[in-house]
Amino acid sequence: MKKILTLVLIALLAIASLGVASAEEARGEGKTIGICLTSQALARTVLDSIYLTEYLEEMGYDVEIVYSEQDAAVQATQFETFVSMGVDGIIISPSDSTALSNAVEVAYDNEIPVMVYDALIMNSPYIEYYATDDLYAVGATQGGYIVDALGLEEGKGPFNLEIFSGSMTDNNATYFFEGAMDQLQPYIDSGMLVVKSGQVDRTSTATDKWSATNAQTRADAILSTYYSDGTHLDACLTQNDDLAAGVIAACKSAGYGTEDNPLPLTTGQDCNVSAILSIINGEQSSTVFKNIKELAYAASVGIDAVIHDEEMPWDPEMVGSYNNNAVDVTTYQVKPLLLTAENWYELIVESGFYDAEDLGMTEEELAAYAPAA
Ligand code: BGC
Repeated sequence: MKKILTLVLIALLAIASLGVASAEEARGEGKTIGICLTSQALARTVLDSIYLTEYLEEMGYDVEIVYSEQDAAVQATQFETFVSMGVDGIIISPSDSTALSNAVEVAYDNEIPVMVYDALIMNSPYIEYYATDDLYAVGATQGGYIVDALGLEEGKGPFNLEIFSGSMTDNNATYFFEGAMDQLQPYIDSGMLVVKSGQVDRTSTATDKWSATNAQTRADAILSTYYSDGTHLDACLTQNDDLAAGVIAACKSAGYGTEDNPLPLTTGQDCNVSAILSIINGEQSSTVFKNIKELAYAASVGIDAVIHDEEMPWDPEMVGSYNNNAVDVTTYQVKPLLLTAENWYELIVESGFYDAEDLGMTEEELAAYAPAA
């Protein structure tokens, strides 16, 4: 736990120091950054917009944010509008990883620096920099949680598992799936994990637009078709907090959530406030903490460096690359951390990521959760 906290604190300290350097330099004075995000309805996107704005404005930039609400054509138009406005740089989180290669070529032709954010833009040789998480590790953390929590390594089982992966248009979801399935597949092969629906590949488990409602609808169908005879569903690989929420809702309406019929284990990512509260209440079992402050900071100082034609200031230990089918893209990779009922307080409260107000609690209510010293 100490190690985890140290990691989070180091990241937050690095970010805190930004204010000092930038106040002296106001490097973005008179310049505008256009930011293209996916959907205001997603809790994590709200945090992305808050922190990107904060860090860029601290450096003196003007910031303009647009949301595509998951419509790839709308996003391409928004991106091209930024190009024709002549913004000084663009940060973009694609709604559809394969739909923007023409748009980024236009930015390249106009010498407008682009920082790709969260999910990669595929099939374009014009992408140079990308800020995201260690995507394979996010999935491996989720799969590893299920393996540990069920005691599969100790030979326990068989258990029933169902799988809910992300949108087919999100390149990240491919990595999440690979990371998780590398942990789970050996137990599916040995029969210690049984997927009664038979839906185990990426396509049959995908959730359009990562929507909680779509996950709930698919879970309703799976529960009524394969589990209505009283077979217990023991675990669900739910690849983000929205999918976990949808699956938990379906399970509750099928009668899960009692002492005799406990909810299946679930996974997640993003640390949505609603997911943290669900974990505290014993419903969602785990999520993955992806430090959005660190990610937004990396993207902000990254685009600033490109605009000023300077070397990337990223800590080389945090940098890797992802291939987008055209080039290897230099990538800042935040390290994901498993969050459960045991460590949520240390991980997101003691580190300063969320406070009582964020979690909708009074200081006293939150303090009651502090682990005994
Ligand atoms: C992001 C996740 C998010 C999902 C749905 C992915 O690309 O990495 O954090 O939960 O999209 O928005």
